[in-house]
Amino acid sequence: MEINEIKIEELNPEEFIKQKVEEISSTVGSELAINALSGGVDSSTVTMLGHRALGDGLKTYFIENGLMREGEPQRVVSLFEKLGVSVEIVDAKKQFFSALKGLTDPEEKREAITRVFYRDVFGKLVKESGAKYLLQGTNYTDVEETVAGIKRQHNILAQLGIDTEESYGYKVIEPLIQLRKSGIRKVAKALGLSEEIYKRPPFPGPALAARIIGEVTPERVETVKKATKIVEEELCNTDAFQYLAILHEDKVTGIREGKRDYGLQIEIRCWESKDAKIGSPTRLAYDILDKLAKRITIEVAGVVSVTYNITKKPPSTIEPI
Ligand code: XMP
Repeated sequence: MEINEIKIEELNPEEFIKQKVEEISSTVGSELAINALSGGVDSSTVTMLGHRALGDGLKTYFIENGLMREGEPQRVVSLFEKLGVSVEIVDAKKQFFSALKGLTDPEEKREAITRVFYRDVFGKLVKESGAKYLLQGTNYTDVEETVAGIKRQHNILAQLGIDTEESYGYKVIEPLIQLRKSGIRKVAKALGLSEEIYKRPPFPGPALAARIIGEVTPERVETVKKATKIVEEELCNTDAFQYLAILHEDKVTGIREGKRDYGLQIEIRCWESKDAKIGSPTRLAYDILDKLAKRITIEVAGVVSVTYNITKKPPSTIEPI
């Protein structure tokens, strides 16, 4: 399938919304559609487009995979309640953690998350609800990187030759596939979503699993979750495109209370970028870095080393796995 990018300068958000609402409504007709909302700008935009097009013909779920940031499910549900959209939380923590058990290879981890998400969780929801369509916020950068073989973005299916109807029992509709992040933010704003949503830094579909090098266990997720909270608190005023904490697989020797402490390493990345295609590290003030190192080594159990990544994308990518 050939996908034509709509560049930001060519995008008229109101026209785009009108066209997509019509397309979704004529494709789905009187059938039922479902979608997963993570609270990021892409899935939030799709949720609003879908509800404009289908009203009660769209059922929205928050998939609690155990890999999201602290307090996220409740935050997202109450934000959308205020917009008149009811969101049901689906507890799938056990399924995700058991699929990830023992996996250390990045692409195998990504593949496991995709499988649980689309086959197990959505397959079941579709069967129970009788839905025929899944709406999702795949964007142009996701397709480009997956097709180029850089990394498998969790939401890429058709472009990898996966027939969702045959494999999972539903068709996928991707209204944002021609846009990059900057275009999606414009559409989100035009849809009346709050600044808190349309300005939110991107967050990957595989969630914190994309920030854990090595095995993803509930305990390791807790570590990266705490470090993420600190990084987000300290860097939210930087205006950077994205900032993240990464848990490394290797341990290093540290000292605590005069004794050897063979402990964990957290890496911080903070990116300047327009659309995630290329990026460069933010030149953070040393005082900020110093505070981050202090807070993370004091507040996150087991961490003895904090580093700041100074590599550009390429050759780096934004997320570590
Ligand atoms: P990378 O790491 O490929 O990330 O340089 C580019 C942008 O995409 C986000 N990202 C993902 N988003 N599913 C997503 O929806 C994914 O599997 C995924 N992996 C990375 C990343 O956070 C960055 O903004």
